[in-house]
Amino acid sequence: MPPNAPLKIAVIHGPNLNMLGQREPGIYGTASLGHIDQKLALLAHELGCDLVSCQHNGEGELVDAIQRTSIDGIDGILINPAAYTHTSVAIRDALVAVGLPTVEVHLSNVYAREAFRRESLIADIAIGRIMGFQKDSYLLGLRALVGHLRGSA
Ligand code: DQA
Repeated sequence: MPPNAPLKIAVIHGPNLNMLGQREPGIYGTASLGHIDQKLALLAHELGCDLVSCQHNGEGELVDAIQRTSIDGIDGILINPAAYTHTSVAIRDALVAVGLPTVEVHLSNVYAREAFRRESLIADIAIGRIMGFQKDSYLLGLRALVGHLRGSA
């Protein structure tokens, strides 16, 4: 990376997050995914970094998106794997394979919900996890990831 090149962050949203706004607003909030991505883009601009964002419902497409980060010059990953958080060895393996600093985010506090949501297959390979603040979890996550990348540069 040339000196002073802006950091490049991949934001990866998992299944059913395309339905935010209409999906269980009491749990996930009323913001749509488009609104969250807009807020993230504004914050990225303020923090001086570039964002690429994607959402996929399929596990394989999410694995492809994670693998692409290694050819796209991405510096860090902000990911909400949604339901795959609790089940996907493939997503965990892809994150380990690319080896980029990763922050795990959730809109809801998964510990205040059903027991199966307490399991995360990526918790131990993430640099940190932020949850329970609805759309602000993403904004806090982006700040934390950029701070980590700048601190460790
Ligand atoms: C979620 C929590 C998951 O348990 C759930 O399956 C989701 C969203 C969250 O952001 O709170 O789809 O990742």
